[in-house]
Amino acid sequence: MSRYFVLIFLCLVLVSCNDAASDGIKEKTHRGYEYMPDMYYSHAYQTYTMNPNFSDSMSAREPVHGTIPRGFLPFEYENTLDDFKRAAIELKNPFEKNTDNIEKGKQLYGMFCAHCHGEKGDGKGSITHPVYSAIPAYFDDVMIRPRSQTTMKNLTDGHIYHSIYYGYNAMGPHYNLVSDEERWKIVLYVNELQNKEK
Ligand code: HEC
Repeated sequence: MSRYFVLIFLCLVLVSCNDAASDGIKEKTHRGYEYMPDMYYSHAYQTYTMNPNFSDSMSAREPVHGTIPRGFLPFEYENTLDDFKRAAIELKNPFEKNTDNIEKGKQLYGMFCAHCHGEKGDGKGSITHPVYSAIPAYFDDVMIRPRSQTTMKNLTDGHIYHSIYYGYNAMGPHYNLVSDEERWKIVLYVNELQNKEK
């Protein structure tokens, strides 16, 4: 019995060694003998090959309309006054107000907001350019803000989140700089600053 196995094994070895070239350089035009060719030649269409099954003949398909990339959260609010107001009412911070989250928000605030809004949130950051000379303090409870029609101290979480996402006038948008989670943690820390120095 084992003799047959040796024989089969030798046949396989010989078949796999088959090479049409005689001068030692491998000749790519001859495939040799193939054992189970469907293991060499995939039945699947390759990414950039023609595909007769689709009218545009492309194998690489575009994502279905409305597809959301993994890890990406759509933001259902536009950069308009109406949606700013809607965000103010509808959005709630999904993160708990605890020391860890506030501390994380503080770190992010230090990286992304403090140079304009000041470490203490008093609007006196290190940037001295005239454009950024009149940044309102988060704890201001006197001046009515034009967009929200309320004071900085009374801005809701949705107001703050929308402001971080799209920016506001001289303040640039931050939607591509911080993640959804980071934005909400920054909001937690801004809440702290709103309540300071009443
Ligand atoms: C480049 C400077 C700059 C940076 C960075 C910046 N801001 Fe601002 N921010 C401003 C200015 C200027 C205003 C006032 C705009 C105005 O009133 O026209 C403002 C206004 C705001 C407002 C009030 C919006 C309103 O409708 O009244 C909030 C809330 C705010 N910023 C939060 C943040 C947070 C949180 C960060 C960090 C993620 C941040 N900002 C980063 C410059 C900045």
